[in-house]
Amino acid sequence: MGNKFIVIEGLDGSGKTTVIYRIIQYLNKCGIINVITTREPGGTPVSDFLRVLIKYGGPISDPIDSISELLMIYAARFQLVKNVIKPALSRGYWVIGDRYDLSSQAYQGGGRGVDMLLLQALSDKVTSILYPDLTFYLDISPELSVSRIKNRIILDCLEQEPLSFFARVRSRYKKLASEKKNIIMIDASQSLEKVSAVIYRYLDWWVNKL
Ligand code: TYD
Repeated sequence: MGNKFIVIEGLDGSGKTTVIYRIIQYLNKCGIINVITTREPGGTPVSDFLRVLIKYGGPISDPIDSISELLMIYAARFQLVKNVIKPALSRGYWVIGDRYDLSSQAYQGGGRGVDMLLLQALSDKVTSILYPDLTFYLDISPELSVSRIKNRIILDCLEQEPLSFFARVRSRYKKLASEKKNIIMIDASQSLEKVSAVIYRYLDWWVNKL
């Protein structure tokens, strides 16, 4: 059918939302109108419940451990893949994901330093049922990320982490992007026009083959 599963990744403030909007516009312009977007964590009723816990934490008397956070993230993702993404792909829809498995590798693996064996086992379980066709990683420094999100009224638990946390997240993102050929790293400190131009080149390649 030619439809694809594309994922956009990056630190908060890297411009994912705007880039996703542009991708949809671009695909529509090329005559591709069956496009859905997902945003993780979340995207099904169960995943959205988990999203609230992941983003805002548990009660003071029952703080969420990093392993519990990891398990909730993967539970949310599994529901999303099984009940939304896979059915959409089999109906011929293009799926644009705002975050996917690479976020867990970077935030939980790099940022939190969770047990890599556990992370890999969970990741294998989910990605064995669905691997993205292409991931665009929008690279910005932690300093730029913090300066772009500092005006947000409410910051979630992860956004309140220190700069050193985001430095670890970024370095894990960069490491994985350099190791895997279907992760495209783009310098997202550049203008939106330049970032979009790189993405359009990849989309063109697919669209022209349809
Ligand atoms: P969200 O408000 O959606 O932020 P953003 O616009 O940056 O995507 O919050 C999602 C937060 O969850 C974000 O801080 C990253 C974090 N996260 C993880 O730590 N691991 C994951 O696997 C995913 C999907 C998200």
